[in-house]
Amino acid sequence: MSNQAEPVLKIACVVGARPNFMKMAPLVRELKRRGHETILVHTGQHYDENMSKVFFDDLGMPEPDVYLGVGSGSHSRQTATVMIEFERICEERKPDLIVVVGDVNSTLACALVGAKMWIPVAHVEAGLRSFDARMPEEINRVITDRISDLLLTPSPDGDANLEAEGIPADRVHLVGNIMIDSLLEHLERAKQSSIVSNLGLADGEYAVLTLHRPSNVDDPAVLTEVLDAVRDVSASLPVAFSCHPRTRQKIGQLPGLDLDAGNVKLLEPLGYIDFLSLVSRSRLVMTDSGGLQEETTALGIPCLTIRENTERPITVEQGTNRIVGTDGGRIREECARALSQPISKSRVPALWDGRTAGRVADVIESWNRRRSERGDERAG
Ligand code: UD1
Ligand code: UDP
Repeated sequence: MSNQAEPVLKIACVVGARPNFMKMAPLVRELKRRGHETILVHTGQHYDENMSKVFFDDLGMPEPDVYLGVGSGSHSRQTATVMIEFERICEERKPDLIVVVGDVNSTLACALVGAKMWIPVAHVEAGLRSFDARMPEEINRVITDRISDLLLTPSPDGDANLEAEGIPADRVHLVGNIMIDSLLEHLERAKQSSIVSNLGLADGEYAVLTLHRPSNVDDPAVLTEVLDAVRDVSASLPVAFSCHPRTRQKIGQLPGLDLDAGNVKLLEPLGYIDFLSLVSRSRLVMTDSGGLQEETTALGIPCLTIRENTERPITVEQGTNRIVGTDGGRIREECARALSQPISKSRVPALWDGRTAGRVADVIESWNRRRSERGDERAG
């Protein structure tokens, strides 16, 4: 609970890429409500209007206080540029705490800056592991968790992974899934969106597709195999394909691909409200997105994950998710199977209840109280 006598903290809240915005919006609002000073830092890892600004508008998030404008680049260049720019901000603004979310390069870069400057770091969505070191996000997750002071986990598997890595238990706090705070807050508004009819689709009679993992889209053979299967599926179920800019570029390099032969609607990335509307009314989702595996579980929409593994096993164990890999034949079979079965309602995991931001703020405030009692302004 909020405590009026609580010392006010100055907290740098970092966002950079699309999946960060819906995780940070509820937390920034909650921290401000409790009287803390927030410095909202946007690294600029994603910068197109439909990958960035639309989310501030849709989620009612304040404009960033600081925009680092790092843009795209190789992993090293992007991570290093965020570090250089964010270090300067930390020197100038001297935050008491840095909050990072998720697993993108901006997450790791800003956590590293905090650790090197002895500024405590809180990582929201800690403990997730795909155990696939070829996935850039896995490297970001492991290192961010190793150097963070507060590890806020979405599900018990996160706690177990951190324990197995020897992270002290007093740093780890199970708070639930903050993405679901945004989903539940905006679901009613999403119902008012006319995106489904605007696309000429009918409720429950189409699939949604997103793809952007390098392992799927950077290899032309894999991308062609997956999209050939999707095109075949679309003959019986139209597919609305929200196409990430990375994927759009790669599709442009596949001249032989003929999506028009099927019923695949190739779309620009959608804003949060329209996309939530599209997903929540769909019959099926096919994706390699991390966040969508969770959102479909919360919504009870069947999800086929076009990957060999997931860092979110709870969506398979309790939710609607199936890991189907990238083999075209398997994708066709799993789609047919999903369509022939009645939709079985998933169990929404504990603490995916729309109140995670409050629990994160509680953890931060009690950490700060302990720190003040110790007279310790630095260590977590
Ligand atoms: C990043 C994250 C990934 C996350 C995804 C969410 C890392 C390592 N990857 O992947 O974890 O799931 O975001 O969407 O942090 N581009 C644009 N406009 C933009 C942004 C990107 O055109 O606004 C293009 C650029 O050509 C860029 C490419 O997309 O090179 C990839 O962008 P980048 O941020 O490096 O990685 P993502 O694939 O978006
Ligand atoms: N999303 C969106 N518009 C789109 C595609 C995705 O608003 O066109 C949302 C989606 O609902 C989820 C988040 O973006 O909240 C997931 O981001 P993404 O798939 O880019 O990244 P990942 O979760 O894989 O890191």
